Amino acid sequence: MKFKLEAKDANSQARAGEITLDHGIIETPIFMPVGTVGTVKGVHQKELKDEINPDIILGNTYHLYLRPQTPILEKAGGIHKFMNWDRNILTDSGGYQVYSLSANRKIKEEGVKFKSHIDGSYHFFTPENVMEIQRKIGADIIMAFDECTPYPCDYNYAKRSMHMTHRWLDRCITHLDKTPLHYDYNQTFFPIVQGSTYKDLRKQSAEYIASVGAAGNAIGGLSVGEPAEEMYEMTAVVTEILPEDKPRYLMGVGTPINILENIALGIDMFDCVMPTRNGRNGMLFTAHGTINIKNKKWEADFSAIDEMDITWVDTAYSKAYVRHLFTVNEMLGRQIATIHNLGFYLWLVREARKHILAGDFNAWKNIMVKQMDKRL
Ligand code: GUN
Repeated sequence: MKFKLEAKDANSQARAGEITLDHGIIETPIFMPVGTVGTVKGVHQKELKDEINPDIILGNTYHLYLRPQTPILEKAGGIHKFMNWDRNILTDSGGYQVYSLSANRKIKEEGVKFKSHIDGSYHFFTPENVMEIQRKIGADIIMAFDECTPYPCDYNYAKRSMHMTHRWLDRCITHLDKTPLHYDYNQTFFPIVQGSTYKDLRKQSAEYIASVGAAGNAIGGLSVGEPAEEMYEMTAVVTEILPEDKPRYLMGVGTPINILENIALGIDMFDCVMPTRNGRNGMLFTAHGTINIKNKKWEADFSAIDEMDITWVDTAYSKAYVRHLFTVNEMLGRQIATIHNLGFYLWLVREARKHILAGDFNAWKNIMVKQMDKRL
């Protein structure tokens, strides 16, 4: 992986860059649509490419390991071929899903025993087998196996957990070095900073993560219920320490406003289920605030979903029509909302990039944050 830092904003920590991987170039800042089980829910790969046009999408080790299961992905020749997506993919390690989804889990130094949320079967994830699984899934960027602490989190628990995440990181790296690539392209490994909402722990973790010298670094354990201000404080502490010449990925964040504020703090990569999951629940993100399309107020509003016309659905359908689709529970409504929202998120990070390159990012960001902080 190569990372070229193209521009830095004079009035914030924002950066524009270019990540080069074997499945193409990623212009940063980037938002990675979430494709948990090998699909960005409800969106054809053709639409994803032609309309939304992300340079990279995300998949989840936990889900893909449970279904379709690793041997099927190996037989398919890897996740790209399986799902017909020839651009970059990043897989999360399961370090988050094991905690948020499995019915039952036991965390030990060796690893995590968990009960599948699908059929109740028991499984064991270790830093070693998660590296092997990610080799076989075949994403371009693969993540360290970590523990994502909840919020709020007791200081002593957060500290113990952070140290365990660091020991797990060493085990990930040692094992990855012994595990050959499964396919004919490279994989880049990202370690993850933890430390809950404690500045001293975040600092310590960022220093440890920086010391391993990975090609890119991630920040985890945020956007788990803490106030936005606390998230920003943690991001600021960490980005000050993580190397400037490596991409920085803030995991699981966030609202359009969270994304802009974190870009201003020096983050380059984001993922979040919000545009897809909230879209399926009838929430539309726009440059002027959010719309709950299920609201009666849109019943006879025949104006376009979004005059900005970012993706083709924005002006092809009216608010009243999409509201109707949600009212009668038609899947097309969920598909339209998903395409619109992802189009908007990708537009937002591309605009951010343009403004960083033009030198007026911070002023633009402040206007956008005010403008988007509304319910329409
Ligand atoms: N996604 C969101 N937060 C996290 C985290 O802390 N760890 C991992 N592995 N994935 C995440």
